[in-house]
Amino acid sequence: MVSSKSNVILFDSHCHLTDRAYSLNLKEVINRAKDTGVKYLLTAGLNRSDSKNSLKLCHEFDSIYCSIGVHPHDADKFSESELTEFKILSKDNRVKAIGETGLDFFRNYSKPENQERAFRAQIDLAKELNLPMVIHIRDAYPQTMKILKENGYFKGVLHCYSGDEAFAQEAIKLGFYISISGSITYDGNKLKSVIKQMPLDRLMIETDAPYLAPVPNRGKRNEPAFVRYTLQTIAQILNKDFSSLAQITTDNAKRCFGIQD
Ligand code: NI
Repeated sequence: MVSSKSNVILFDSHCHLTDRAYSLNLKEVINRAKDTGVKYLLTAGLNRSDSKNSLKLCHEFDSIYCSIGVHPHDADKFSESELTEFKILSKDNRVKAIGETGLDFFRNYSKPENQERAFRAQIDLAKELNLPMVIHIRDAYPQTMKILKENGYFKGVLHCYSGDEAFAQEAIKLGFYISISGSITYDGNKLKSVIKQMPLDRLMIETDAPYLAPVPNRGKRNEPAFVRYTLQTIAQILNKDFSSLAQITTDNAKRCFGIQD
């Protein structure tokens, strides 16, 4: 077990702290994260209003940074006018990325053509602002790669990675980071071979809270304090020491998002 008093510093590179799952006790959730060494959190915006709420949280808690954008599930509601608003929000230095954006052809909650349109617009926006992107991909790996290459901008992180080794290698060569969620703690996960092949300087960790709670909390509400279980599992798989991986993944996320302090 990892002592909560150890001086490791962790970065939960992707969570959704605006989720109503935390509406009653966000302060406790953030304090528990702090107590387990999570010094940095990036809360990812899902649409226009959620992005604004995410930024609001950054000013309530020192440890929180955010990304702003439109999730593929919300792409049907995306309009070009949002880009102007995102540009204004991005002037706030707690905004560290554009997203989460990407393609989700598993759920298809928004039409594929709308997802593509919103994704391309957000790549252009990230490029214009020189910000990294937070990219969500589900059942859309070749389509995502095609769009990224057509737009020629390769800065950011593939969050909650669930693809294969070959795709990860290609994305890393282009310049992307890969973020691993609690799903690595579920038995028989194919991600194990992906992380064994990865250069450590591209590895990030996340909870995607309130979803995907890692073992031993699988099935419960997830929260940033649980990110250490994901790192423990990665440390076992890679046969590395927990605190050095904590340092590496935190440095990687800070570099990816341009956080200096
Ligand atoms: Ni997410």
